[in-house]
Amino acid sequence: MGTETSLVYTDLRGYLAAADELGELRHVKGADWDLELGAITEVAARANNPKVVLFDEIKGYPKGFRVVTNPVCSAATTALAFGLDPQLTGLDIIRQWKERLGKQTPVKPVEVSSGPITENCDSGDKIDLLKFPTPRWHEEDGGRYIGTGCMVIMEDPDGQWTNVGTYRVCVHDKNTLGIWISPGKHGRLIREKYWAQGKGCPVVISFGQDPVLQKVASWYEPWGVSELEIAGWLFGAPVQYVRGKETGLPIPATSELCVEGFIVPPAEDSRAEGPFGEWTGYYASGTRNEPVVKVKNVFYRNDPIIFGMPPGISGKSVPLSAANVWLALEKAGVTDVQGVWEYQTRYITAISIKQKYGGHAKRAAMAMLGSTYGYHRRFVIIVDDDVDPSNIDDVMWAMATRCDPATAINTITEAWSTPLDPRITPDARAARNFTNSVAIINACQPYHWKDQYAKTCYFPEETRRAAAAKWKDVLKLD
Ligand SMILES: Cc1cc2nc3c(=O)[nH]c(=O)nc-3n(C[C@H](O)[C@H](O)[C@H](O)COP(=O)(O)O)c2cc1C
Repeated sequence: MGTETSLVYTDLRGYLAAADELGELRHVKGADWDLELGAITEVAARANNPKVVLFDEIKGYPKGFRVVTNPVCSAATTALAFGLDPQLTGLDIIRQWKERLGKQTPVKPVEVSSGPITENCDSGDKIDLLKFPTPRWHEEDGGRYIGTGCMVIMEDPDGQWTNVGTYRVCVHDKNTLGIWISPGKHGRLIREKYWAQGKGCPVVISFGQDPVLQKVASWYEPWGVSELEIAGWLFGAPVQYVRGKETGLPIPATSELCVEGFIVPPAEDSRAEGPFGEWTGYYASGTRNEPVVKVKNVFYRNDPIIFGMPPGISGKSVPLSAANVWLALEKAGVTDVQGVWEYQTRYITAISIKQKYGGHAKRAAMAMLGSTYGYHRRFVIIVDDDVDPSNIDDVMWAMATRCDPATAINTITEAWSTPLDPRITPDARAARNFTNSVAIINACQPYHWKDQYAKTCYFPEETRRAAAAKWKDVLKLD
């Protein structure tokens, strides 16, 4: 199958049990879905050692109807969730993950007649989405968001491929959901194809699934790539699904809670959506009318667990998507990339290269911005191979000592962006101009005179590692 996997779980429950055993999970009982879950989640995410939080006995809801937040929030849970070496830190984690991703061999999902998700099914008048403990996450949220770390599954009506994305979902009433998809995203392009034919867009949304399914749902893979097949490869076994009765779409068999229905054309129904505390840390996109999902069936396991990933600042999580950027660079033919790291989710990207020719640094930045992973960046900083992109102090040092602002910073305007960008001006927003500028900061020694560049006095990484290893018992530095 072309994969080695060391995942110790096959579903969300298995993952949470393993996290609990590692001491990485906290059980919280009796919290309120209205803001309190959100506040506790933020506190736990900002802690020095962030923890996964499993909420039960949520105010007004039966015991067993649970919500988990910060599901993968630290190096320890990242290693557990994705089968990585727990001893690794910093860029070494990205390197290992990138090596694994580079060997990808898609594995097609398989249909099964039943699974944990078919334990319960509500249809017609029995549907009541409000029976699940849906949080209002932030103070100015204009609704309760059941889908934050969700998986939205659709099929291209032309190409017969299945797309998966994470798009936020709120509960409007007992059988109607609101969904927000950013311009240019595959889910948005697919639903428009159905609407152009005067049809509702069939959709399945999973609100609780294991970390691998969640991770691939949010990948910026090219058009035509099915993320379910990537998940199968990561698991080392095909994703099992039951077929939706109304839509014919795949419903992951181990999901905790899934709905199937149709995103109806806006002329038929659309409702006010937002504000929502977004991943940028702002309520930037305000309130607008957005499409809705008319739910036909609700499937759930006994004692379902909703997977919550409310936006919030978490500087401690490992930016695994840096590995996807690294691979995108290689696919674009950019050689000698030494590492990639992302700061502030995606706003600041640092790419380290071993310069081989004039223009190499700029090419790396442009290739990244031109790939699907170029979506909504703000600063791309290119550094030499002696700079660890995962070390912010090193990156700042390179900028301070190697970048001449007058000649080594370029800006690109009208780059692919999103209404979520808090920096879009009121005028541009009114004109629906959702683009932003990006600065490419060349913080490398200028290629054509790098042989004359002042020599650095710092020790090479290997020398530092050797000294640290030899003197570790005396220095006691960790
Ligand atoms: C926790 C989380 C929440 C997200 N919420 C949204 C969202 O509400 N709308 C959106 O368009 N993208 C959202 N994204 C980003 C998309 O999931 C991502 O761009 C993905 O590649 C989209 O899939 P697609 O390219 O197949 O459309 C979110 C990502 C994550 C990790």
